[in-house]
Amino acid sequence: MYTGLQHLHSGLAYLALAALVIVMIYALIGSLSGREFTEKDRKFAMIGFILAHIQLLVGLILYFVSPLGFSLLTGGGAMGDKVARLTALEHPVINILAIIIISVGYIRAKKMTESRARFRSIYMMYAIGLVLILSRIPWSSWLG
Ligand code: HEM
Repeated sequence: MYTGLQHLHSGLAYLALAALVIVMIYALIGSLSGREFTEKDRKFAMIGFILAHIQLLVGLILYFVSPLGFSLLTGGGAMGDKVARLTALEHPVINILAIIIISVGYIRAKKMTESRARFRSIYMMYAIGLVLILSRIPWSSWLG
């Protein structure tokens, strides 16, 4: 179960990150072009929102199954070790915060009426979320 979840979380990370980057750029272009925000734009933004939430769900389960998650945090010594602190505390906390910010961006865009404001809500909040996520990826274990 652990290995399966680890592979799923690792593979989904590519999809979620790619979707967030593409949606953000698409919304930015939409805003700059001054065109109308359509239902297609909302659905497109929803792809990034959903993938981020699936990753959140898998990450939460993984956190309690992995030896690098909750057990490491409560086992003692994780705070003093940079690598352990990243997967046991910083990565989960910052990523949950990032996904909340992405959700706010999407939900606000859904409720707003002015097209440019709707595009802005998506590209700005998705960009903040992305910066937070990228700042706390365990790069060495992922791509190393
Ligand atoms: C969009 C959000 C997220 C992304 C893009 C992401 C991405 C990643 C990546 C790339 C890795 C390294 C995988 C590897 O070494 O092959 C990782 C590891 C991990 N992530 Fe996430 N993650 C996200 C959210 C979360 C959340 C919300 C949690 C927990 C609440 C979490 C828990 C973990 C844990 C415990 C590991 C270490 C797993 C292990 O190797 O045993 N992640 N994540």
